[in-house]
Amino acid sequence: MADLRSKYVPRGITSSHPITADGARGSELWDVTGKRYVDFAGGIGVMNVGHAHPRVMQAVREQLEKATHTSFQVLHYESYLRLAQRLCEVTPIDGPKKAIFFSTGAEAIENAVKIARAATGRQAVISFRGAFHGRTLLALSLTGSAQPYKQNFGPYAAEVYQTPFPYSYRGWTTEAALADLGNLLESEVSPNRVAAIVIEPVLGEGGFVPAPLDFMRKLRELCDGYGILLIADEIQTGFGRTGKFFAVEHSHVQPDLMTVAKSMAAGFPLSGVVGRADVMDAPDPGGLGGTFGGNPVACAAGIAVMDIMRDEKLPERAARIGSVVEERMQTWAREHDMIGEVRGMGAMVGMELVRDRKTKEPADRETAKLLATARDKGLIALRCGVHHNVVRTLMPLNIPDDQLEEGLDILGASLNS
Ligand SMILES: Cc1ncc(COP(=O)(O)O)c(C=O)c1O
Repeated sequence: MADLRSKYVPRGITSSHPITADGARGSELWDVTGKRYVDFAGGIGVMNVGHAHPRVMQAVREQLEKATHTSFQVLHYESYLRLAQRLCEVTPIDGPKKAIFFSTGAEAIENAVKIARAATGRQAVISFRGAFHGRTLLALSLTGSAQPYKQNFGPYAAEVYQTPFPYSYRGWTTEAALADLGNLLESEVSPNRVAAIVIEPVLGEGGFVPAPLDFMRKLRELCDGYGILLIADEIQTGFGRTGKFFAVEHSHVQPDLMTVAKSMAAGFPLSGVVGRADVMDAPDPGGLGGTFGGNPVACAAGIAVMDIMRDEKLPERAARIGSVVEERMQTWAREHDMIGEVRGMGAMVGMELVRDRKTKEPADRETAKLLATARDKGLIALRCGVHHNVVRTLMPLNIPDDQLEEGLDILGASLNS
């Protein structure tokens, strides 16, 4: 298979692990040689309900028998409408809400910005350094991480401004980050030209850094003061991952719009924008959409995910997984100087590796080696971080206790080898 890959697939798309997947069930994966792995990656945070959950499979089978595609822009259908209702019901914003569906996270981000611009009549958008919002050109313009994402792909969209994320381990306290944002609004873009500020409540690809809750609240106040819309990118943090259905719930901050994707439909390509009805209704009819957006099979899977989240109490389970993982990582940190910081929110836990605890020089190669060792021992896990030196956990939230322990044992053993 490796020869097919190198011959027919461009090197621009990399795979974290050089193995060929054959099957996946729950929190386990198998490669084509039959080797088994515990899955701490979940297809990059997509499998919060686990691979091939029977209720998802059943819902998908039923929808497949009815229709696989009509395009919502031609004929609307029940799975889209019911999922929109269910998503609005769990979105932590008071008052009437509306939701629209697309296929990828990047598309959700693009559309959230379009909606915000239409609603405010303003053009500028602010995002954070280290943020990741996707690979299409506006989403990439909002992304605050050069390598490998931005490379030579510019020029980027105009009217996008970046400000530091409150990443205290790397020197950006809440106060410092807010001061820099204040400077930006004074010296580069006047606040009455800003349509929206887009933030991941926990920086995902940027290193699993939770935004302090008071930072989120101050951001909300600032947005309210200037009539700026707050967009929470919950694409990686949503659907129970952080111990609440959505990560913004920890701060009680209500965004105006939220972007969702990844675990929403258990592996079927589905994303969405949900938010205040008055804001969502700003674009004129026909201004939003896409041929495949809100595919009926993906929406049927999404409704099953909603049921599973509720019935299996997965947000609560995420909080418990998080405390088990953090405790284990803190124990390792006492034994290994290479572990600079352990941090996270719920089951979204990151362990930042450094060559020296004082200089905090990122241990990027060591992180890659650790994950390769873990893979050889039977664990699939991913790294993240602007410096590629953070081990992150994205296991299914219904992972059985023994598999959670098995995965952690492998990671611990890999640190020692
Ligand atoms: C927070 C966040 N936003 C947006 C995206 C882009 O999603 P997609 O890869 O589905 O376009 C990602 C993907 O990792 C993400 O983590």
